[in-house]
Amino acid sequence: MNKNDDDLNRLRFEIRDITVDIIHKVQKRMEISKQIGEIKTKNNIDVEDEKVESDLKNSALKIADEIGMNSEFSGRLLNILLTESVRLQNIQQNDSEQRQTHLSIFMKAKQLQSMGKNIIHLEVGEPDYLPPKNVKKTLSRIYELRQYHYTETRGIPKLRQAIAKKVGNGIIDEQVIVTPGGRFAVFSAIVSLVKSGDEVIYIEPAWPAYRECADFIGAKTKVLKTTLKEKWNPDLKRLEELINNNTKMIILNYPNNPTGKILNDNAMQRIIDLAKDYGLYVLSDEVYSDYSFNGFKSILEYGYDKSIMISSFSKGHAMTGFRVGYGISNKKIISKMSTIQAVALTSVAEPMQYSALAAINDDSLNENVKIMRRRLGFVCGKLEKMSLSFVAPDGALYVYPQLREGMDDDIVLINKLLDLGVAIAPGSGFGESYKRFIRISACQTEEVLEKGLDVLSSAL
Ligand SMILES: Cc1ncc(COP(=O)(O)O)c(C=O)c1O
Repeated sequence: MNKNDDDLNRLRFEIRDITVDIIHKVQKRMEISKQIGEIKTKNNIDVEDEKVESDLKNSALKIADEIGMNSEFSGRLLNILLTESVRLQNIQQNDSEQRQTHLSIFMKAKQLQSMGKNIIHLEVGEPDYLPPKNVKKTLSRIYELRQYHYTETRGIPKLRQAIAKKVGNGIIDEQVIVTPGGRFAVFSAIVSLVKSGDEVIYIEPAWPAYRECADFIGAKTKVLKTTLKEKWNPDLKRLEELINNNTKMIILNYPNNPTGKILNDNAMQRIIDLAKDYGLYVLSDEVYSDYSFNGFKSILEYGYDKSIMISSFSKGHAMTGFRVGYGISNKKIISKMSTIQAVALTSVAEPMQYSALAAINDDSLNENVKIMRRRLGFVCGKLEKMSLSFVAPDGALYVYPQLREGMDDDIVLINKLLDLGVAIAPGSGFGESYKRFIRISACQTEEVLEKGLDVLSSAL
């Protein structure tokens, strides 16, 4: 053995001891975290406390900086520890209380229906009208035309070209990926661009999938809350305060589920400027953009290279079960999303891609938008009569009213309504702090909406 071998062995022993030490310390940290979780559960204290977390993070980062540790790495390491504590404590709390969302209420309602109960569905964002007639024709020809094979992972060229043409703004087919629903486009964009320990910012109230995707990969979520009082406008100063070395992505969803809000051009531009300044990705979920009543500018119009636009055939064309959506971005990002899609599912089913192609330029879309606008107006009128506060939606399929003082919290009310045969989504499914809200979906005829809302009115 020469001196080099001696040194190598000694250093390897040292590194092994340190690694074992780290494991012991992390385990100890988790045990303490569980004890904190027990106290929180017993005393009904929220798991997440931004102040406690940022104090802890700041003091640890300060030391990391003093000893010359890379700040991006130390931030990510801390985030992994913090996220794991939150996960453990959430498991403790959820043992006694499962979070209810529009989907869990939908499942409950379906179960009641299978037992013979009549249910009016005002909880789910699935339009009741038919997909375009052209789609029926296409589906009937698919067998003869043998359009039922594996396709390019990114989607058949004809559909990608048609999507590129529809969205305009100089987008070419190589910037498009066809996905099984907008949901998978959101998932693959987040998974391909964000790592464990990175941070993602989204704006609440929000569709729960953003958080679920981030949690799935162990990324940390930072939430910018908006309020009815501020007409659901995000505080952009606060948004900037949430950005740090570990922030990788801002997620936007306008027209918004559940509020129906559309951000104005000025606010969008400021968010994009912030993203540019800090080099962040902007994921813009625009699955409701067909239903825009007061003007809507897609993120594509801002020409920001690190943006990813998501859309879908589910809502505008009433094709939820076809599972066709798409993502648009620069070629490099689309290629990353495509890798995930190839690993996970090869391609979207070919018959469904041809169905989407048949739907893309169909006139029924205009009619659908008119119907939805009328229905939302109808729901707003009924809610006004109940003296509930809300902001009239600029788009999407929903109204998100606030419950008056003295009324039950959302979950208690939602369960009462289910007993009375009406399913409505609880506000807290879109963020813990929205227990005083409910979301009403206008995806049924006015006749059905009226029946459901009359039950709501008497329950209130
Ligand atoms: C905001 C938002 N994004 C994406 C989706 C996903 O739609 P799909 O996967 O059916 O295209 C939904 C569905 O409700 C949604 O509300």
